[in-house]
Amino acid sequence: MPLPKAELHLHIEGTLEPELAFRLAERNGVTLPYADTGELREAYRFEDLQSFLNLYYELMAVLIDEQDFEDLANAYLERAAAQGVRHAEIFFDPQAHLERGVPMGVIVEGLWRALGRSEENHGVSTRLIMCFLRDKSAESALLTLEMAEPYLDRITGVGLDSAEVGNPPVKFREVYEAAAALGLRRVAHAGEEGPPEYITEALDVLGVERVDHGLRCVEDPELVARLVRDRIPLTLCPLSNVRLRAVDVLAAHPLPAMLDAGLLCTVNSDDPAYFGGYAGDNFRAVREALGLTDDRLRELARNSFLASFLDDDEELRARYLAEVEAYEFGDAVS
Ligand code: ADE
Ligand code: ZN
Repeated sequence: MPLPKAELHLHIEGTLEPELAFRLAERNGVTLPYADTGELREAYRFEDLQSFLNLYYELMAVLIDEQDFEDLANAYLERAAAQGVRHAEIFFDPQAHLERGVPMGVIVEGLWRALGRSEENHGVSTRLIMCFLRDKSAESALLTLEMAEPYLDRITGVGLDSAEVGNPPVKFREVYEAAAALGLRRVAHAGEEGPPEYITEALDVLGVERVDHGLRCVEDPELVARLVRDRIPLTLCPLSNVRLRAVDVLAAHPLPAMLDAGLLCTVNSDDPAYFGGYAGDNFRAVREALGLTDDRLRELARNSFLASFLDDDEELRARYLAEVEAYEFGDAVS
């Protein structure tokens, strides 16, 4: 039995496996510029975040109607459940679909057809987090929030993703203020490729409760002290960091030192179809490459539920935490 865990950093579009991409392309009459899944997988040699994003946005062309979004989410939930994910807080990138003419209602309702039945179908509770693309304008983000207003009963929070360097958090001050006024939770990618100052800015200017990645905080001891003191969770994505070259090799990942420093770290998959593994695969990889003890793995699983937005269902959170404490380690963490 896999270790029970919550996944807090997962882009639903990043779960599009080549096989599903080709199936949806055929169903929708879309031509992909790759002959087959093998040729597509050959393209998965990323130099950095931008080279990954180029492919990530290109493949989204196959997502057109509600059924596509539902199939995508169900495929993820099934794989996640098999790897011990009990709760998933799922990002989506509406601007990448709106600009292709896919309406907000198709995206949200399509995803909801899977998420709304996920507890009964997959045993996974879910929340939905709408991300703004930081390489688009602040006005576009505001417009996106406005378009999401009819669907806010389905959306728990907002996030910020895409190309980080040159697009600092302060650019999105206004839309985060508006999101907070609507009662939405706030997270943001910061310190993945961008400097530690972006993490500080995300906390101070955007009021984020959780930092996605946050890896580069290790360069600033004062920031680390603040994150420890204020118990700000970081949603780390170890296999993503290797594929996008934020770290050279997994054995050099700072996760053990970050845990030793008292940071509230969690382990997540980011874009599992592109980076070589789902949540459990990431747990297994860090255990093997970094020699994490069972106590450390249990801490990571505990942190994932503590850092989740289950504040609206403390009973469920308590049940998951009890599952983590009762877990008996065998060989499987995934
Ligand atoms: N969009 C999807 N994955 C991302 C990542 N790792 N960083 C920024 N934007 C993303
Ligand atoms: Zn991400």
